[in-house]
Amino acid sequence: MSISADQKMDLLVSLAKRRGFVYPDSEIYGGFANAWDYGPYGTELKNNIRDAWWNMFVRGRDDVIGLDAPIIQNPKMWEASGHVQNFTDPLVDCKKCKRRFRADHLLEARQAEPGYDKERPADLKDLRCPECGGELTDVRSFNMMFKTFVGVTEDAAGAAYLRPETAGGMFTAFKDIRDTMRKRLPFGVAQVGKAFRNEITPGNFIFRTREFEQMEIEYFVRPEDAPRAFEMWLGEMKKWLGEVLHIKDENLYYHEIPDSERAFYSVRTIDVEYRYPFGLKELYGLANRTDYDLKRHQEYSKQDLRWMDPETGEKLIPHVIEPTWGLNRTVLVTLLEHLDIDEADTTEGDKEPRMVLRLPPRLAPVKAAFLPLQKKDELARICRQLAAELRYQGIPVEYDEGGSIGKRYRRQDEIGTPWCFTADFESLEDMKVTVRDRDAMTQERIKIQDVASWVQDKLKK
Ligand code: GAP
Repeated sequence: MSISADQKMDLLVSLAKRRGFVYPDSEIYGGFANAWDYGPYGTELKNNIRDAWWNMFVRGRDDVIGLDAPIIQNPKMWEASGHVQNFTDPLVDCKKCKRRFRADHLLEARQAEPGYDKERPADLKDLRCPECGGELTDVRSFNMMFKTFVGVTEDAAGAAYLRPETAGGMFTAFKDIRDTMRKRLPFGVAQVGKAFRNEITPGNFIFRTREFEQMEIEYFVRPEDAPRAFEMWLGEMKKWLGEVLHIKDENLYYHEIPDSERAFYSVRTIDVEYRYPFGLKELYGLANRTDYDLKRHQEYSKQDLRWMDPETGEKLIPHVIEPTWGLNRTVLVTLLEHLDIDEADTTEGDKEPRMVLRLPPRLAPVKAAFLPLQKKDELARICRQLAAELRYQGIPVEYDEGGSIGKRYRRQDEIGTPWCFTADFESLEDMKVTVRDRDAMTQERIKIQDVASWVQDKLKK
C-alpha cells in the first residue's frame, strides 16, 4: 500500500511514541524543542546500528582504529579548527512576531517556490517572515557551539565548549596515536559519540536536534593517495547503506558540492542525501579536508604533527578524508525506509491494514517473540523455556501471553520483530512450534530443539 509523504511522517512519529521508539523529551513539563528521548526499542535500534557500524568500519578493518575523547576538551582546539570564528549560522528575527529563522533556510524555501525566477535571484533583503509576513532584521552571525564554564567561577578563563562534532578529538589525539599504534599511512581513526549544536530551527522530529550522535572517521593519507581514498570511502558508504541498512538506491542522492558552496579547506565534498518526507536533505557527508586540520593544530599547539615514512625518512603532514555519519539521522532513515502498510487476515477471515516495520533482522530491537497460542501452563512453559534459551545466547527476545494472537502479532510487526513463534496443543504431541515470518506472513513448523540454531542461522544472513 503506498503511503503519502505527509502521512508517512505522521504515522512514524505516532508509531515511534506508541511503541516505545522515540518519545518527546520532558513531556511532563510540556516538552522541550528539538529534544527527544529514545525509548526502550529506539535505544536498542540505535545501539544495533552503532554496533553494526563499529563492526564494519573498525573491528572489520585493519586500517581503522577507535578512539573515545571527551566532550569538553581544551578550548584552544576550537580556535585552531576555526569553529570559534566560523561555526556560525546566519540568523534573522521577525520584527513583528519576534520569531527567529535561519536566513539560508528562508532563502532555500524561497528558491523552492513554484514560479521562482532564477533569472532574478532572491536576495536576503527581499525576504519577509514566513509566519506573519513581517519585516526581518539584518542577518546576524550566531555561533552554534554551546559554551560552558570549567571550574568554580564563571569567568573567561574557565570558558569551554561542548564539542560540535566528534572529529576534533581525532586530530588532537593524532600525535599519541601516531607514536603508539605503529600504523602506516593510510590509516583511520574512528569515534562515535555525542555532539552539540545550538540549533534554532525546527527539527523535523529527530532529523535536527541540539544534541545528537555522530560516527566519524578521519582517514589519514599521503597527499597523492587522497583521491583514491575518497572513492574508496564513497564505496564503503554505499555498501553500508545498501547491505546493512537496506536503503533503496532510488531514495538516495549523492550531491557533489560545487566549488562555490564547499568549505574553503575542502577540495571535494559529497553530501549523501535521502528523500525524507519533508524533502531531499543531508544524511551523511564525505569530504577531502586536505592537510587543513593537522596544519592548524600544528600551528596552534606548536607540536610537530608530521608523520615520518619509516622507509624513506620523509616527513609530511597527512591529508584527511573524512566520512561522517549521523547516528540519529540513520535511525530516522531506517525507520522511514522500512515502515510499510500492507494487509493481514483477521481471525474472522477478513482483511485489515497492517502496519509493519520491515527492519533488517540484524538491526531489529527484538529478534523473536514467543507467543503461546493460549494461556495454558504447558504452552507457556514451552515458550518461556525457548525465550530463556535465546536470551542466554545473547539474542534479545520477548515472551508475550496477553491478548488475542492477532493483536500480539500486530504489536510485534510494529516493532519490527522478524519472527514470531507460537506453541499450540499440537506442540505437546509433535514437539514442534510454528514460526511466522514478519514480511511474507508465511508459517512453518520447526522442531522445538532446533529453534535457537534456526534463529542464529537466520541472523547470520
Ligand atoms: N565533522 C564533519 C561534520 O560534523 P556535518 O555535516 O556538520 O559534518 C555530520 O555533520 C553529520 O552529523 C550530518 O551528515 C548529520 O548526519 C549529522 N548532524 C549534523 N547536525 C545534526 C543535528 N543538528 N541533528 C542531528 N544530526 C546532525
